[in-house]
Amino acid sequence: MKVLNIFPLSIFCNKINLTDKKKKQMIDEIRKMKENSKLEEYKKKGDAWTGDTQGFENLQKNKIFDEFFSEVKKNVYQYLDQLKIDTSQLDVFIQRSWATISYGNETIAKHKHMQSHISFAYYLKKSSNDANLMIYDEVIRNEVIPGLFGSLTAFKRKILKELNVLNASQYTINVKEDDIIIFPSKTLHSTQPTNNNDERISISADIVCIAKSSEVLEHLTPPFKNWEKM
Ligand SMILES: [Fe+2]
Repeated sequence: MKVLNIFPLSIFCNKINLTDKKKKQMIDEIRKMKENSKLEEYKKKGDAWTGDTQGFENLQKNKIFDEFFSEVKKNVYQYLDQLKIDTSQLDVFIQRSWATISYGNETIAKHKHMQSHISFAYYLKKSSNDANLMIYDEVIRNEVIPGLFGSLTAFKRKILKELNVLNASQYTINVKEDDIIIFPSKTLHSTQPTNNNDERISISADIVCIAKSSEVLEHLTPPFKNWEKM
């Protein structure tokens, strides 16, 4: 007997090693952004501070982050290579990038990045008590009995005897400082609920892939040079 596990979700995990000096410079810059928030009332009690909602959504244009983004680029190309995507036929763009800061019980609720293809989270400042990253499966192909895999009562009754990679519909990635996690933007994710965020700082970005040529190509976004503004 054998079980074939097919159609996986692959999450790319690696480290970006920057000097302490560079990291401090980035942290100070992000703290400054928070102090200059442009829509403070948007952040409700219990929400993490997210730079994209506060007027700081273009870290990729800030020189202080240049070294970081050149490391990001290497990792994104490695990720695409793992998926056997020929990047020589694509233009890859960072659309926008922002920082997040969490204190205490502040969280980032479940969400997807609907307007892009690839997203990442990089942990610039994180202690072991700070929230990890949670990933959710919305398809749950193996859930033969609807509702079973997410059912707390079924789990307590041990109808579902144990959680494993075949039946889990959510997964917590234990992330450490310096980790970069890359995943499809359409993946539902959140931060892990905790009361113990010290000053957790992460950076995220949205990345899109555009075809260099649309010739004999039905899918993918065609190159900008052929677009005509209406
Ligand atoms: Fe996100």
